[in-house]
Amino acid sequence: MRETSFVMIKPDGVQRGLVGEVIRRLEAKGLRLVALKMLRISREMAETHYREHQGKPFYEGLMDFITSGPVVAMAWRGPKAVSVIRKVMGPTDPAEAPPGTIRGDYGLDVGQNIVHGSDSPESAQRELDLFFSTEELVDYTRSLEPWVAEDFK
Ligand code: RTP
Ligand code: MG
Repeated sequence: MRETSFVMIKPDGVQRGLVGEVIRRLEAKGLRLVALKMLRISREMAETHYREHQGKPFYEGLMDFITSGPVVAMAWRGPKAVSVIRKVMGPTDPAEAPPGTIRGDYGLDVGQNIVHGSDSPESAQRELDLFFSTEELVDYTRSLEPWVAEDFK
């Protein structure tokens, strides 16, 4: 089943020069990049994006961190894109994330875990709507996508 997920390279990923590495891994996995922009997110946008965490002990730190510098927002499309991207990223805490995942290979601290990926198709829709207009999602196919036939079923 084709899905579109929202991915954001967080301020630490940008500062550490991992933008290309995150994109490389998702692209090499076979997912299709359908939107990309760099922005600095406002406090209001951060509150909307992470509204489910309001009131938690790490919430204020998360707000400060996510608004501390530019981020790269992206939309990626593919079969089971939401769960596939979560697997490529690895678990929330990089210290517990296995090698071979983005967080497992590049992180140590739960507050600086490089990348965000939607945790369900419903979250993905909500987050994509927050960061992108419909026109900003570009539809095309990569000629060798093994799953492209699925699009036409
Ligand atoms: P994200 O939403 O950023 O992709 O991360 P996630 O789904 O893997 O984890 P989530 O539970 O949604 O938490 C959001 C972000 O809050 C920070 N966090 N800190 N115990 C802590 O200090 C703690 N727990 C979560 C992390 O940066 C996490 O990515
Ligand atoms: Mg989350």
